[in-house]
Amino acid sequence: MTPRIVPFETLTPGQRAEAARILREAFAHMPSAYGGPGEAEDEVATFFADPEREAFGALDGDRLLGWIGRVAAYSHAWELHPLVVDPSVQRRGVGAALVSALEGDAAAHGVLTLYLGTDDDFGGTNLFGRDLFPDVAGKIAGLAPTRGHPFAFYRRLGYEVVGLVPDANGPGRPDILMAKRLAPSR
Ligand SMILES: CC(C)(COP(=O)(O)OP(=O)(O)OC[C@H]1O[C@@H](n2cnc3c(N)ncnc32)[C@H](O)[C@@H]1OP(=O)(O)O)[C@@H](O)C(=O)NCCC(=O)NCCS
Repeated sequence: MTPRIVPFETLTPGQRAEAARILREAFAHMPSAYGGPGEAEDEVATFFADPEREAFGALDGDRLLGWIGRVAAYSHAWELHPLVVDPSVQRRGVGAALVSALEGDAAAHGVLTLYLGTDDDFGGTNLFGRDLFPDVAGKIAGLAPTRGHPFAFYRRLGYEVVGLVPDANGPGRPDILMAKRLAPSR
C-alpha cells in the first residue's frame, strides 16, 4: 500500500475526527493512552494550534489511514510523536511511509536527530514488570520484544535505543527512548 502523505492543515473536519479515532484505537492496548473522553481530540488539536508541532496524514483516496506528528523540542533534534496507523490497515507499509515522510521533512529543516519514546505499558518487552535500577543503561543490551512491541518496528527503520525511563507509567512500566541520525556522520 502506497499512501498519499499530506500535511495536517489540509485535512477535512471528517478526516480530523478520524485522526482522533485512530489515535484512540491504535493505543487501545495501552491503559494510559488517550482513553479518556476527549483526550484523543485534544491531542489532535495541539497539532493545529502549537507552532512547535506539525503532523502528516496518510491517505488512500479520502480515507485517513494513519498519521505522524513531531515536536520541535531542540534546535537540531525533533521528537517523533505520535505515530498511529488504523488497526485495520497495520503491517501494510503505512507506518514506514509516514516515518520516511517525516524524516525527509526534518532533514529539509536541518534537523540532525529524530528521537521518540515508545512506552512499554502493556508487557510488550522483557523489561515490563522489572525494577530497572541500578544500572539502567546496562538493561538496554538485553531488551527484546515479547508481544510485538513497536520498538522492533523502529529498529527496522534504523532507530537505536538510547535510553530507558524506569517506571515512566507506573512500577515496571518503562518508556524506551530511541533515536536516529538523519544527517551523514561527521
Ligand atoms: C507501530 C505502527 C505505527 C507500525 O505501523 P505499520 O503500518 O503497521 O507498520 P509497517 O507495515 O509500515 O511496517 C514496516 C516494517 O516493520 C515491521 N513491523 C511493523 N510493526 C512491527 C512490530 N510491532 N514489531 C516488529 N516489526 C514490526 C513490518 O513487518 C514491516 O517489516 P518489513 O519492512 O520487513 O515488511 C502501528 O502498528 C501502530 O499504529 N501501532 C499502534 C500504535 C503504536 O504503537 N505506535 C507507536 C508508538 S511509539
